[in-house]
Amino acid sequence: MTTPASPHESRWLERLAGLPFLSDKPEEDAESTLRALWYLATGERRSADAAREGTLPPLDDAATARLDELVGRRAAGTPLAHLTRRARFMGMELFAGPEALVPRRETELLAQAAIDCLRGTHGALVVDACTGSGNVALAIAHALPDARVHGADLDDDAVTLAHFNARHVGLHDRVHFAQGDLLAPFDDARFGSRVDLVACNPPYISSPKVGQMATEISAHEPALAFDGGPLGVSVLVRLIDEAPRLLRDGGWLVFEVGAGQGPSILRRLAHVPHYDDVEGLRDAHDVVRVVRARYRPAASLPVEAP
Ligand SMILES: C[S@@+](CC[C@H](N)C(=O)[O-])C[C@H]1O[C@@H](n2cnc3c(N)ncnc32)[C@H](O)[C@@H]1O
Repeated sequence: MTTPASPHESRWLERLAGLPFLSDKPEEDAESTLRALWYLATGERRSADAAREGTLPPLDDAATARLDELVGRRAAGTPLAHLTRRARFMGMELFAGPEALVPRRETELLAQAAIDCLRGTHGALVVDACTGSGNVALAIAHALPDARVHGADLDDDAVTLAHFNARHVGLHDRVHFAQGDLLAPFDDARFGSRVDLVACNPPYISSPKVGQMATEISAHEPALAFDGGPLGVSVLVRLIDEAPRLLRDGGWLVFEVGAGQGPSILRRLAHVPHYDDVEGLRDAHDVVRVVRARYRPAASLPVEAP
């Protein structure tokens, strides 16, 4: 680590190296964590990704004491993004915190899939259900400058954070957030049968497993962000059933699934007559983590006899 020498540096690195770093936060290791906390101790908030860049500023005595305390809090289990209040998603530095799930790198597959589906659609109308910090909604709007994006979440605190993020990245004129249950905030004529794409990263962990997740998650992140009901698919199944109310003919439903859920969800979708072009998108480990399908109401009509 290229930093100004500090007598504490190797001790801090040693304390952090003992942490059980989560596989869904691949940007975090002992070095990026120490660099992020170092910047924070000197008054600069950076995500783990952003902290890998630049030359660390020197520490005075007060900053050294602050960093020592921050390393202690991280070593005791507080998520890095809750300390720095920053997470990077699709190249954007967003506000993060206990109000909502810290955006995960794996969810960039969902955001990119949504963006790819919408290429060539002028002025797309997009809904992002279960929006959390607003990361997916904002990534879509950032990539598609004429898209109009609406996100919603059941959790008031998440919606407040999402509003904050929209202002922070200067997209508040095209990205709007509301509080409500799944697609209920969009149950009006502005959206009915008019939406080009519904995106969603729903909670998909089965209720019994929620409490067994790593302490960094179960003790610090909102359970609502993970709890997908007894089998983990309660919200997913509702999404598949309810999205047709919003989608235009040819519109897309794109959502994230848990590792291992892809095959059964794809089988379920294959039996729903009004979905077409059903496809599972695989991550770098060849695991289906995103499912997309096109709404084709005509596909469900019986073929007329000649
Ligand atoms: C897995 S997190 C995804 C957050 C964000 N979209 C992301 O990708 O980081 C799931 C989100 O769904 C929200 N949620 C859970 N049940 C919901 C429901 N019935 N209606 C709307 N939002 C819900 C949670 O509050 C949480 O913010």
